[in-house]
Amino acid sequence: MQTTLKKAGELSAAKADLVVVFVGSGDGDLDAPAAAADAALGGLLSAARADGEISGKPGSLTVLHTGGRMGAPRVAVAGVGEGSVDDWRAAGRAAGSRARELKAGTVALAAGDADADRVTAAVVGVEAGAYRFLRYRTGEAGKRPPVKALHVVGGGASAAQVKRASNLATAVSAARVLADTPSNDMTPTALAARAEALAAGIPGLEVQILGPRELTRLKAGALLGVAKGSAEPPRMIVLRYTPAKRRRGSAGEVLGLVGKAVTFDTGGISIKPSGGMEEMKLDMAGGAAVVEAMGLIAQSGIPLGVVGVVPSTENMPSGTATKPGDVVTAMNGRTIEVINTDAEGRLILADALCYATSKAKATRLIDFATLTGAIVVALGEVYAGLFGSDAEWTEAVRAAGEAAGDLCWPMPLHDGYRGLIESKVADLSNSSNKRQAGAVYAAQFLREFTDGRPWCHVDIAGTGMINGAGTGFGVGLMLNAAEALAAR
Ligand code: BES
Ligand code: MN
Ligand code: ZN
Repeated sequence: MQTTLKKAGELSAAKADLVVVFVGSGDGDLDAPAAAADAALGGLLSAARADGEISGKPGSLTVLHTGGRMGAPRVAVAGVGEGSVDDWRAAGRAAGSRARELKAGTVALAAGDADADRVTAAVVGVEAGAYRFLRYRTGEAGKRPPVKALHVVGGGASAAQVKRASNLATAVSAARVLADTPSNDMTPTALAARAEALAAGIPGLEVQILGPRELTRLKAGALLGVAKGSAEPPRMIVLRYTPAKRRRGSAGEVLGLVGKAVTFDTGGISIKPSGGMEEMKLDMAGGAAVVEAMGLIAQSGIPLGVVGVVPSTENMPSGTATKPGDVVTAMNGRTIEVINTDAEGRLILADALCYATSKAKATRLIDFATLTGAIVVALGEVYAGLFGSDAEWTEAVRAAGEAAGDLCWPMPLHDGYRGLIESKVADLSNSSNKRQAGAVYAAQFLREFTDGRPWCHVDIAGTGMINGAGTGFGVGLMLNAAEALAAR
């Protein structure tokens, strides 16, 4: 989808197949674009509203035929409730989904004087609502998506802000495609190839792919231990973005973004039950979000050094797999007793966090991981679990997520939880047989590998994958967090 800004008054020139106007709940006056549509339609819109057919509820949508009266065959009236940014995102989502069903190739958003945050939310919403994963549907796979062009008509957002929204929407969809692609095609090698292709097209973005040989030399025994059971070789994907110019205030800061990319998680020898196991192709959603966010951040030219570190492997049971009770040694020399081979995410993240601080020189960190079923039990699909070692950084990350619609709820860390990660045999254990505080325990484990730097862990097991499909959760959060850090 191409998104461009048109000046107000260019609505009919936009030659859209579908014009979207926005209406709030309650019976206040219509905003200018909706009022203009109402006038063009001889009062049809306000009549439908008076009858309650147009409620203005967030996410509600009513399509009216214009009879050619507005320079477009149809107008969609999208509810924005009280007018929050989230409401605008929901309205965009509903419009995108309907535009796709209507095969509307060109969609115009009559945004009026809505501000950049609302326009961004609507654009991201349209792209998300129109998204379908069709690569494996014979006959549909090669076709261009039905919604090809999106025009933003209005004066509240600048061309640069619309461009930013367009790039963000595209990156979110790209992360969803990576996550949705089945594991026989989305191997660690394939994910690395995507990172290489991204870096090749964006100045200032460099990629380095570490394979088994390099990982052995680095003593990344935790990642190698998980990969041992698989015929697919592991990869540590490192993306480095160096801006053309840095801001004074952010000099010296390097933001480290780490994402779990287990391209398929069978559980290993501690094998998972077969029901629903196909969803474990999505266990690389965090890594996918980091790869695409790195492309987006580099493309945006943010004046801040950013490094992305994505450990990628399959987790398979086999004659060469790590077994319960085996001990592995992470890059920082700490030994880990592998009690449960299904707690593999924290193992590969341990080495990735070590790499991010010691080799890539990240000064502060955020990691994204579909890490625990426990966070799904605690928070469901609405909020991700947010853990942090530094109150100020944690609040900055939470706020960056909220603005993007990537909602995060603060969860605790405390030395009182350390007992759970102790091992009788090694420095640490990767799992406890006590069925308590599973998500906290995982976070407490990761903290051991962050070298005391400001760090946040975002457990996206519930929000990164919904109904067996990727959501692109985290891409918007990372863009906002990088911009905010660069600006301070
Ligand atoms: N990838 C899973 C977590 C997960 C579960 C993601 C459900 C999405 C939906 C992770 O590797 C895992 O298996 N975690 C275990 C940890 C346990 C063995 C300590 C879990 O949550 O059960
Ligand atoms: Mn697992
Ligand atoms: Zn996993």
